[in-house]
Amino acid sequence: MNLADEKNMSKETSVLRPGEATWNAGLYDDKHSFVSKYGEDLVNVLNPLPGEKILDVGCGTGYLANVILQKGTQVTGIDSSPEMIAKAKREYPGIDFKLISATDFHLDILFDAVFSNAALHWVLDKQSAIECMYDCLKPGGRFAMEMGGKGNVKYITDAVKQVLLKHGFKKEAGINLWYFPSLGEYTSLLEVKGFRVTSAYHYDRDTKLDDNANGIKDWLRMFGAGFFNTIDPGIVNDILDEVQDILKLVLFRNGSWYADYKRLRITAIK
Ligand code: BEZ
Repeated sequence: MNLADEKNMSKETSVLRPGEATWNAGLYDDKHSFVSKYGEDLVNVLNPLPGEKILDVGCGTGYLANVILQKGTQVTGIDSSPEMIAKAKREYPGIDFKLISATDFHLDILFDAVFSNAALHWVLDKQSAIECMYDCLKPGGRFAMEMGGKGNVKYITDAVKQVLLKHGFKKEAGINLWYFPSLGEYTSLLEVKGFRVTSAYHYDRDTKLDDNANGIKDWLRMFGAGFFNTIDPGIVNDILDEVQDILKLVLFRNGSWYADYKRLRITAIK
């Protein structure tokens, strides 16, 4: 797919239902590059070895798939966003990227490891994803993941819901865009499927956002678009201003905005 096809595709998908969003892959890399940078630490936890076949679930624009490739591995990246996959293919033509959902995939090869960074909290049908990831691993294969955990971005979502309700957007305030499980919940799901969980952490990682003036507004435009796509853009701007004002006291420090991230990091073996 070339750039023109990508733009047309974005136009075709511009009528969205509540909770749906398209991805701005360029903005993702330009202003939210911290997502991939933090993920490099998870690549070290995965410890990919030369010759291994690795699957990156929710690969986005492919930055971490490429970091894994550089270790001498063979990488497949999957993502359900056409915009992300199109950009990943353009940036890293040597990697096999596929436009498929984490909840419904069956690939022809078995992998030595499955990797997933900052993606599985978008997957509300978690059981199907866990099944697919388990089934595509060789016996003894490794799983290394990090996602938003229980309490993740709670200040931000509470403020968004408060302001949406104040403006009369009750349906939008009830939208659940993300799944942020506790450590016990996700490790249990993995164990029920047959994984042996080898490590699990739930830790706070307040994350500095890239734009000093409009950090929260930009973050919400990128990641929280599903709350706002049925609302008039002028009103959305007012709502975002109000949300950012509310959050100033808790998430603006020393001239920078922070998102109140709480990470769930798990490793497991099939
Ligand atoms: C996260 O990485 O925790 C996250 C990113 C986007 C939306 C929600 C959570």
